Amino acid sequence: MMTQETARIAVFLSGAGSNLKALIDASKCGILSGKIVLVVSNRAQAFGLTIAGEEGIETFVFKEKRYDSPEEASADLLARLQQRRIDYIALSGYLRLLPAEVVRTFRNRIVNIHPALLPKYGGKGMYGHFVHEAVIASGDKESGVSVHLVNEVYDDGPVLEQVRVPVLPDDTPDTLAARVLKQEHKFYARVLNKLIKGKYQLDHE
Ligand code: GRF
Repeated sequence: MMTQETARIAVFLSGAGSNLKALIDASKCGILSGKIVLVVSNRAQAFGLTIAGEEGIETFVFKEKRYDSPEEASADLLARLQQRRIDYIALSGYLRLLPAEVVRTFRNRIVNIHPALLPKYGGKGMYGHFVHEAVIASGDKESGVSVHLVNEVYDDGPVLEQVRVPVLPDDTPDTLAARVLKQEHKFYARVLNKLIKGKYQLDHE
């Protein structure tokens, strides 16, 4: 179990990177006992890469199709993570599945944040505004944020913690998304910090 003070964290993202920014800030002010040392994106234009660059954090654009085979892509990604002595991976709006070999190697050390109360509104294709549209269409009175361990299936690993957020009668997907995202920014670092500190009972350690 990892309890060191300076866990080395890689953040994977595909888009805006507001959760990356929140994790960086939490690391700077000591809420997160870890340092973001690598940001990986499948999209070269992701704004999260700009945030990383401004913070002096190394970035890597990982495009599986650039490799001769999925095995080669997986081996290269894993080697880069290991060379940089990554302890934890935080998925932050990363819209791809991680290679299975990476999931196996980092078992119980990969987290994802999802903008709904899993197991509801998760799975392939359930991201961004699709999630909030589905919540509003369902008539649910509450939504929330889930942070869970990552396995080989989208949004499927054990939930570590959730926070609840009300759905208001006049909500649009955008207003609900904004309310949920605000909670995400407070919540992700705290849950990741607890994982790093060994505060969760995990299977197969
Ligand atoms: C967040 O809503 C997160 O829950 C989901 O993707 C979004 C990423 O937003 N997995 P950002 O790129 O961190 O701003």
